[in-house]
Amino acid sequence: MHTFTAAIRAALAGATGLPEAEVRLEAPRDTAHGDVSFPCFQAAKGLKRPPPVVAAELATAMNATLRGITAAATGPYLNFTIDRADLARVVVGEVLAQGASYGGSDLGRGKTIVIDFSSPNIAKPMHVGHLRSTILGAALGRIFTALGYRVVGINHIGDWGSQFGGLVVALRRWKSEVDLDADPVRGLLELYQRSKKAMEADPAFAAEARAAWQELESGKDGEVRATWRWATEASLRGFARTYERLGIRHELVRGESFYEPFLPDAIEACQKAGIAEISAGALVVQLGAIDKGLTETPCLLRQTDGTTLYATRDLAALFHRHDEFHFERALYVVGAEQKLHFRQLKAVLKRLGLPWEPRVEHVEFGLLLGKDKKKLASRKGDVLVLDDLLDEVVEESTRIVREKNAGLANPERVAEQIGIGAIVFNDLKRERIKDVLFDREDILSFEGETGPYLQYTHARLASIERKVLEAGEGGAAPDWSKLADAAPVLGRLGRFPDVVRSAAEHAEPSEIANALLALGRDLNTWYVQARVLGQEPAVTAARLALVRASKSVIGNGLRLLGCAAPEEM
Ligand code: ARG
Repeated sequence: MHTFTAAIRAALAGATGLPEAEVRLEAPRDTAHGDVSFPCFQAAKGLKRPPPVVAAELATAMNATLRGITAAATGPYLNFTIDRADLARVVVGEVLAQGASYGGSDLGRGKTIVIDFSSPNIAKPMHVGHLRSTILGAALGRIFTALGYRVVGINHIGDWGSQFGGLVVALRRWKSEVDLDADPVRGLLELYQRSKKAMEADPAFAAEARAAWQELESGKDGEVRATWRWATEASLRGFARTYERLGIRHELVRGESFYEPFLPDAIEACQKAGIAEISAGALVVQLGAIDKGLTETPCLLRQTDGTTLYATRDLAALFHRHDEFHFERALYVVGAEQKLHFRQLKAVLKRLGLPWEPRVEHVEFGLLLGKDKKKLASRKGDVLVLDDLLDEVVEESTRIVREKNAGLANPERVAEQIGIGAIVFNDLKRERIKDVLFDREDILSFEGETGPYLQYTHARLASIERKVLEAGEGGAAPDWSKLADAAPVLGRLGRFPDVVRSAAEHAEPSEIANALLALGRDLNTWYVQARVLGQEPAVTAARLALVRASKSVIGNGLRLLGCAAPEEM
């Protein structure tokens, strides 16, 4: 596709006097209008004539210059239609030649993207709130990797804070009363909840917990630290299973505690810059001058009793990441409920006058809700643990797979792929800032805007390919002109690399999800009337090539999002 857009861009630059880099091409809103569109507003400004007039004039000029591409004006838009055979040959050729790497590029070579994602808390199960961060962050990681960036995914585990004094004491007292071997996460949760109650009800417990936290903070390497470390590792082992099922890996697991040694430096940086001040005994950075909305909410660096906070640790972590990675962008994939926190963090960077502040981004997202728009609960009605959610959905997909295709070679594996694919796709298909509704039946439907629908489309294309090859057809030289009826599909295949790039730029995987759904729809329209098998050999060959290319793009897209692309289901 790039071949065509490059030719169009060069011709437009010549005719309008705009530099090539400023010639912005778009996908036409209606694919019936053409393959590439040039909105004439900007050029019209420069030429001081109304956009529709400019569009019409440019159409004449373009038709005189370009070969194999026709230009036509539609109001203020100049639409280009590429010769059908050329479009098919070039697009299908590129998709098939690049295979699994089609959609990617080397745009990001030499640049690093740091992605803070998932980041659950120790001694608590990973709950559904962490699911979106995990899914979004991992998808972004794969998207940036495909674009040639070096990606550093960091799991900023919540492993630090005075509550861990209580946990240590609870382990000291009641360790033998829970089964920490079978299910460490659940066992730790029980102890954690019990410790919270004891902190309030039992002054002796509270005093012991405070002492334990003090010892932990002092850095002393004794029984307290060993117990805390044990709890951290047990939690991480519990999370590992969930990550494995979702196919997720962090480059670094660095809990908040990791940054403890760097806190004094972070605080000192603020003091040296003269932005830290004492307010009611606490050390704060006032932010009102940077952001009026933060007048009442300064960033708290240190409390009266000397303890640091979540924000202090995030500030230290950010400096540390900047020093270590010189990142192009640092993304925080964290729910919108922490908006204030990240706004404060960025305001502190601004007060410090750090030029890289704009490269720090809060990639915020909405809630995951049940279909009644209430907080998602388990079937039993209590707080939903992520692993249980995965189990429930996979159980359901196993039933569906058995029912739809009893002869499947590996039903368990396919059911897991569909179940996970359903959850992941559901999370990524809308703009991330919107809330996600979670309905066990809807997300598993093979017909709606779902992951399984796309997986099914992929498997169906694979089956067409198998049948054609089994029949010994498809080997002739393709007649590309016979794919004229598939122009919308070809356009979508050709634009896929632009979609991936745009998804990265906006940190918005939903752009890929939606492009895949649109491709699925156009593909469906095409193949209900275009049989592949048993046609003239040159027609079968061309259609088979399109089937393969479409399968390849759907597979690449699904994998970027974190969904498997089964060959059969
Ligand atoms: N542990 C936090 C939570 O569960 C999320 C941490 C996000 N990352 C960060 N650098 N603040 O809410």
